[in-house]
Amino acid sequence: MKNIILNLFKLNYFFVIIKKVLKRFEKNTSEEAKKWAKLNAKFTTEEFCKLIDLQLYNEILSDVILIEKDAKYRLSKLNVTLGGGGNFILLYFLTRKLKPNVIVETGVAAGWSSLAFLRALNKNGKGKLYSSDFPYFRLEKPEQYIGYLAKNEINKINWFLDIRGDDVAIPEISKRLGENHVDLFHYDSDKSYSGRVKVLENLNSKINSKTVMIFDDIQDNLHFKNLTEKMKEKYCIIEFNKKYLGVIGINFLINDRYEIR
Ligand SMILES: C[S@@+](CC[C@H](N)C(=O)[O-])C[C@H]1O[C@@H](n2cnc3c(N)ncnc32)[C@H](O)[C@@H]1O
Repeated sequence: MKNIILNLFKLNYFFVIIKKVLKRFEKNTSEEAKKWAKLNAKFTTEEFCKLIDLQLYNEILSDVILIEKDAKYRLSKLNVTLGGGGNFILLYFLTRKLKPNVIVETGVAAGWSSLAFLRALNKNGKGKLYSSDFPYFRLEKPEQYIGYLAKNEINKINWFLDIRGDDVAIPEISKRLGENHVDLFHYDSDKSYSGRVKVLENLNSKINSKTVMIFDDIQDNLHFKNLTEKMKEKYCIIEFNKKYLGVIGINFLINDRYEIR
């Protein structure tokens, strides 16, 4: 509680924290969203990756085992508990498969996803990661932990991290992208419906028909369901750690023979 109050008084955090509190009053559609996600979740991470590229999946296994080992070791050196990570196997796999020039992610926390992206970009020999985050205000001096797992990566020069919160960071990232568009997008920050809508609005001009987008925790509300209806694109839902993530924009990756929506 002490840390929450101290962080609240940092002027640049004040408005983000107040917005977060207000978002708690948004309509709760989690029950319907969870039911829909569960019904439409057809693959595990492994099945999904193998469907796209069996050989690549087998190739990356040793890399993802090392990512997990390194991350767990570094986390064991900390005396605070940081939140859980995203589906680093899927993120590593898709980065190796798509060989993106530009990745944008929202939500860094300890940095499982950032670590996976940076390692895969390093292996690809090209590409840049743009990340947006906001400090966990329940911790003392929370800024020091953001991206902790990825901070030693040798190619972190290809990493732009903005921790002012999505409302500020995403327009900044969009400006930095200039004429470039986003090849791979991972949403794992503010889980509210309005937070997701706002980020997509702010990044809209940088997203095109080839952008592959991954949304974590789609069981929290109906945003992903509504997005699939609006975009009329193939999508896939994967169960991960008893939660669901949605991947959309995969038309060009998936052979029509497969039963993906
Ligand atoms: C689930 S964690 C991200 C996990 C990370 N992707 C990983 O794989 O390790 C969510 C992160 O989003 C951040 N966050 C929450 N609201 C945010 C906002 N409005 N803008 C930016 N980041 C936000 C949280 O502080 C936290 O660091």
